[in-house]
Amino acid sequence: MGPQRVLTGITTSGTPHLGNYVGAIRPAVAASLAPGVESFYFLADYHALIKVDEPTRIQQSTLEIAASWIACGLDPQRVTFYRQSDVPEIPELTWLLTCVCGKGLLNRAHAYKAAVDKNTLAQADPDHDVTAGLFMYPVLMAADILMFNAHRVPVGRDQIQHIEMARDMAASFNHRYGEHFVLPEAQIEETVATLPGLDGRKMSKSYDNTIPLFATREQLKKLIAGIKTDSRAPGEAKDTEGSALFQIYQAFATPEETMLLRQAFADGIAWAEAKQILFERIDHEVAPLRERYEALLRHPEQIEDLLRAGAIKARALATPFATRLRHAVGLRDLRSQDSSKKEKVNKAALPSFKQYRETDGLFYFKLVDAQGKLLLQSTGYASPKDAGQVIKALQQDDAILAALPPAPDPHAVQAALQQLRAAQ
Ligand code: TRP
Repeated sequence: MGPQRVLTGITTSGTPHLGNYVGAIRPAVAASLAPGVESFYFLADYHALIKVDEPTRIQQSTLEIAASWIACGLDPQRVTFYRQSDVPEIPELTWLLTCVCGKGLLNRAHAYKAAVDKNTLAQADPDHDVTAGLFMYPVLMAADILMFNAHRVPVGRDQIQHIEMARDMAASFNHRYGEHFVLPEAQIEETVATLPGLDGRKMSKSYDNTIPLFATREQLKKLIAGIKTDSRAPGEAKDTEGSALFQIYQAFATPEETMLLRQAFADGIAWAEAKQILFERIDHEVAPLRERYEALLRHPEQIEDLLRAGAIKARALATPFATRLRHAVGLRDLRSQDSSKKEKVNKAALPSFKQYRETDGLFYFKLVDAQGKLLLQSTGYASPKDAGQVIKALQQDDAILAALPPAPDPHAVQAALQQLRAAQ
């Protein structure tokens, strides 16, 4: 079995807050360091367009989120970190999936249904203010996941249905066109607490109760001072149960530190003092990250470069895979010979590579079509292994073609390679 592929997307519609840090960024960065996993993290900026129609906010959020993940220790050398809109194969796959996805499946998506229910309640047209983008959201998300054949997708509970829908689309595509997609599974982090916000409800942008991850020290202090507490006076014992302050502290502190604060609560610590302890504890963890973050924000070009490099890595997988998928559904070079009958049974009808040695002592290969006609002739290599590696690269994608002698008919070469890759 190959490495487990783990993939997740972050919608670029806001500024990361402490809840995102504790619930997503910190565990994801830790998980990306585990051996035997191949991680893909991307900025879901096409998804952001569904929610946000302010261009500058999309841009700013993309910068802030990318800088946050890097500042928090995501290593772009180790993982594939990219921007969704830099990978045109994703919207392309979205369409292929759209064509195997039942409309009824999308009708049942929670977010769409909630919008329709709200309209129905208000006696408005059921689809009032519902864009086709909102309706199609699960298909785009399925394409994100299936494009890279991810096995596991770490998400919040609210996203489980989307992963199930991605599985459905993968299965119906596979059924029609052969086994192309891995069926992904949602990965829910049971151990990671959801962080309460300033008002004690779950920290969330929609409740307007967040603490920005990279608030300045002064802002952080002020926001923490605003966390809701009860009115018990200094000296009175405090409840840890249901205390937002205590829960937030717990998400940052060691078990020993947590025990000490529990004791202090029992001993009647003043709220102001408890808030001071919480502030110092968070700042202790966040300050070094904040420094990196601020430095990155001063250099958007560094983030841009890094995302472009990530897109090259992502597309090294996506481009050849999309070629195979196009071929699978019948979007083909008209000169490729495989009619549906031959394609299934007749391997002999495929083009092939021939390796041989010349009298000059060097190793060569050629690509010939099903009838044995020469399509591509290599130069000489010092070893059969060298020649074999070039063949292997050609079976993946066209990139190495540029390093080979020009072919008499480059289109025929590309069509033949496409056919071979599809048959793999
Ligand atoms: N829908 C996800 C969210 O709102 C973001 C997302 C987009 C995503 N594409 C994805 C998550 C692919 C996981 C995999 O949180």
